[in-house]
Amino acid sequence: AVSMPIAVGGGARLSAERIAQLYIVPCMKYYGICVKDSFLGPRLGEQILKEVETLSNSGKFCGGQLVSQRSIPSKNIRGDQIAWVEGKEPGCKSIGMLMAHVDEAIMHSSANGQLGNYVVNGRTKAMVACYPGNGARYVRHVDNPNGDGRCITCIYYLNKDWDVKVHGGMLQLYPEGRNVVANIEPLFDRLLIFWSDRRNPHEVKPAYARRYAITVWYFDAKERAEAKEKYRLAVGQKGEEVLVTQSNKP
Ligand code: OGA
Ligand code: OGA
Ligand code: MN
Repeated sequence: AVSMPIAVGGGARLSAERIAQLYIVPCMKYYGICVKDSFLGPRLGEQILKEVETLSNSGKFCGGQLVSQRSIPSKNIRGDQIAWVEGKEPGCKSIGMLMAHVDEAIMHSSANGQLGNYVVNGRTKAMVACYPGNGARYVRHVDNPNGDGRCITCIYYLNKDWDVKVHGGMLQLYPEGRNVVANIEPLFDRLLIFWSDRRNPHEVKPAYARRYAITVWYFDAKERAEAKEKYRLAVGQKGEEVLVTQSNKP
């Protein structure tokens, strides 16, 4: 497979509306994957990193869960440590601001049918994840292979001076039906967006330094309602649901 030339939105910090129109809408249409660097700028990015480090050092993280518990221990599939954060907890104000900015970008992108048939009406809490740096990885998987309602995955990376040649931890996406690999480095203040379904199998290569990321999944209203009906989903499983409304704006 050849390396996929992903258009990366560069250095300039833009409004959520500009990011939606210039990057998210066109990139999701053509690639199903979108990368925006310098999403929040170094000041807020730094505050978020501090909050995540404090959470991590205070022992609030648990081993990453899998929905389908098979005989293989979870940590052999995903070796990250995670915590679910709403953004209103003490010490999580900047994470809350990140969520508000991502909400705004996704709501602008999905307005007026710009993301096809999806009607985004909610999301999970933020999943703060730490790969401790002992070679932990996340094997190849699809976030939402069975229609649980999640349509868009957004990942915000927090890793300064990250060198994939030394530290590993590359995210590799294998877009369905194309013989290409998209290699995404987990760089500080980078926002990655991709379709959560079978179009985007992906894996996290072994990480040899602490690797932090914050992930949130947005729901399609129809798929989510059908999934709840069908599976009587335990909403706590993948983080509690949060409604996305205009009042979530930064
Ligand atoms: C799937 C799946 C994983 C892969 O499509 O259900 O698990 O690596 N794919 O292609
Ligand atoms: C996940 C995942 C990717 C990353 O948590 O489902 O694929 O780059 N994370 O952290
Ligand atoms: Mn994933």
